[in-house]
Amino acid sequence: MYTQSIMINNDIILFICFGGSMFIVFEGIDGSGKTTQSKLLAEKIGAFWTYEPSDSSVGKFIREILSGNIKVDDKTLALLFAADRIEHTKLIKQRLKEGDVVCDRYLYSSIAYQSVSDVDEDFIKSINRYALEPDIVFLLIVDIETALKRVKTKDIFEKRDFLERVQDKYLELAKEHDFVVIDTTDKTVTEVHNKIIGHLKNK
Ligand code: TYD
Repeated sequence: MYTQSIMINNDIILFICFGGSMFIVFEGIDGSGKTTQSKLLAEKIGAFWTYEPSDSSVGKFIREILSGNIKVDDKTLALLFAADRIEHTKLIKQRLKEGDVVCDRYLYSSIAYQSVSDVDEDFIKSINRYALEPDIVFLLIVDIETALKRVKTKDIFEKRDFLERVQDKYLELAKEHDFVVIDTTDKTVTEVHNKIIGHLKNK
């Protein structure tokens, strides 16, 4: 699904729906609202909703590490995220044959979080070379205090300074890769949702 406006003779605007499936990715720090918004969008456009770390066995192992129960080197964790993504991408590709896919976190989570954890960025990109290129990335940003208030379950990354640096890295990536950046601080769920829909209509 997507709509596009085209101008003919300077005054006729056509809205066309193309059949091609879209791979839509939501990124942002914990507490930015990406899970709520990605689910809402998927519901609205009838897309398949999915997330990372995924439900694969690697994804489950990652969650154990994130909860602090198991300690591994940051490079090992980067490799695990990349491995989980290889498994998950097979599912995404299959689902894209049937329709749109909305994904809560993908490749850019690895570039942002793992590089701030001091893993070399070229290494992260290299182990993620089989990741799919999203059609559109929504980066939800938020004031750090608001983000910390919103998160209920804590993982090893949910520390103020760390999240601040991750958000800065995301903003750097946004410029490089043309993400749609939406500030969710002091905005209602509906306001943010409407902005997202507005951007998709112009895509
Ligand atoms: P998140 O979706 O926020 O977890 P939950 O569903 O429990 O709210 O993701 C878990 C954490 O994993 C989050 O702090 C970000 C981190 N993460 C990475 O560091 N690299 C990655 O590649 C991914 C996908 C997530």
